[in-house]
Order: sequence, then structure tokens, then C-alpha cells
Amino acid sequence: MSVVFDAGNGKITVPDIRSRKSSSFPDTRPDTRKIVSLTAYDYPTARIVDEAGVDIVLVGDSLAMVALGHENTLSVTVEEMLLHTRAARRGVRRALLVADMPYGSYHTDLSESMRHALRFVKEAGAEAVKIEGGERRMDLIARMVDAEIPVMGHIGLTPQSLHAFGGFRVQGKTVETAEQLLRDARAVEAAGAFSVVLESIPRELAAEITRELRIPTIGIGAGPDCDGQILVLYDMIGLAFGHVPKFARRYANVAESISKAVAEYAQDVRHDHFPADEESFHLSAQVREQLLAGRRR
Ligand code: KIV
Repeated sequence: MSVVFDAGNGKITVPDIRSRKSSSFPDTRPDTRKIVSLTAYDYPTARIVDEAGVDIVLVGDSLAMVALGHENTLSVTVEEMLLHTRAARRGVRRALLVADMPYGSYHTDLSESMRHALRFVKEAGAEAVKIEGGERRMDLIARMVDAEIPVMGHIGLTPQSLHAFGGFRVQGKTVETAEQLLRDARAVEAAGAFSVVLESIPRELAAEITRELRIPTIGIGAGPDCDGQILVLYDMIGLAFGHVPKFARRYANVAESISKAVAEYAQDVRHDHFPADEESFHLSAQVREQLLAGRRR
């Protein structure tokens, strides 16, 4: 079931995000201007990041890798993304909730792509969807916007293009590829997207795209000149295994905290220090007496 909380009391909406384009109010204090985004995939993490004040919570298909243990994002399904979006929906009250459309859910015919996009809004409570790709997604983005589904674009290193790119590589390093990314960015904006993620592209190119577009750019591995930033939560809190990209600054070491807590718990159980009497339930004196009397007979 869809549950979107009332706007008007600090709730971040699509128009709010649009209005956060840095060039549209250059005098505003930078601490209120930049768009702060993070991924989350379940109720507790979505609730924590929302209550900590992020502007956008993205149920990213990075879920496949960081939470489900897959090698890449390609295998995560619509049903899995819907399940996690619903869970995040229950935790998010203030931020804008965006759902990533997984690989294969918008790559065949337009009607099927639309049906999938509508499910994220109707069944999971997403307020917008994100799709990867530039010029070649123009028709789809326009169709979604026409159906009242706000769209966040995503260009640069689009992980669903892993095989086409031949790996997770920084994009837009040559004149030709940089020009293509500029065309992609313009196309996503022209088609009606309300913002665009720029992933793993040179800082100078991201700055140029940010200058040119009227919609906000949200960078990940795209330098500091974008209108906002996004990180994968698990990379940022130290709960990721394997390769962590160089742009993913780590602000905590949650894996270490969990591991320490588990080791302490194991030690306590093995040495009879857990549970303590205060952590146990007790019979009343009367019931205990009757029980013992019955057993004595
Ligand atoms: O899936 C994801 O987490 C993303 C972000 C990295 C932008 O697409």
C-alpha cells in the first residue's frame, strides 16, 4: 500500500528538490542549498537516515551488491526492489523517497516499463523513480513524466551498463565521451527529469553539466561542484565488503561495531554472564509454591 505523508511540515517534495539548483539562489547559505542524499534499503536504516535529515532517500539497486551479496546490480528483480521500497517507505517521513528501477524493468517495451514504474508509486509508495541512461531514455522519461511519475536520471558510470562498459570505469574522460555525456544530460533534462545523478565522471565535466542544466545534478564520484551528493549508505558507514570506490568516504565503522558486539555476546553466553537475573522473567511466589507443592506430591 502507498503511504506518502502530508507535505507542508518540512516534507521534501519534487518541486523542493528542483528549486535547490545552486545557480537559482547563489546567495543562499551553502549548508542549506546542497542536496544531501543517501541510499537505504530497509525500515531501520531508512528511518535513521530520514531522521538525521537527508533530503533524498534512494532505494538503489546497489541493494543487490551491498545488501543481497550479488556481484553486480543486474540480477535484482522488480519484486525485490518493491519489497525493499515498501520497507523504506515505512521509515521515511520527511525525505523524498526515490526507487531505482532495476535492470530489465524498463529495457523492453514502453508499456511494460510504464507498468513497472507505476507499481513503484502505487504499491510501494515511491515519490519518484530513477532510471539509468541518457539520450536513449528520452521517450521513456517523457512518458513517465506524462503519467505523473517524477523521474531522476542517472548518467556516467551507470552500473546496469557494466557489460557494455567492460567494467566499472570512470566515464567521460575523452572529448567524444564527454560530449556524449553532455548530450545525455541535456536529453534527460529536455525529457522532463527533475534531477540527474552523475556517477564517476571527471570533476570538470560534472561542473560543466551542472552549469548548463537547469535541473539539479547529484554527484557520486563526480566532484564537489554538483548541486548535491549521494553515497551508498553501506560504503559510507563501513558495512561494505570487497572493493569500495575511492570517492566513498567512510564516516563510521559499523562492521567493526557489530563484530565487537557479537564477540562480547558470545563471550557472555559461554561464561554464563548472559542473561542476568534482571533479564529473566519470574514466577510469583504463590505460583512457585503451588508448582513445587504439586511436584512434591
Ligand atoms: O543504486 C544506487 O545506489 C545508485 C546510487 C549509487 C546513485 O544508483
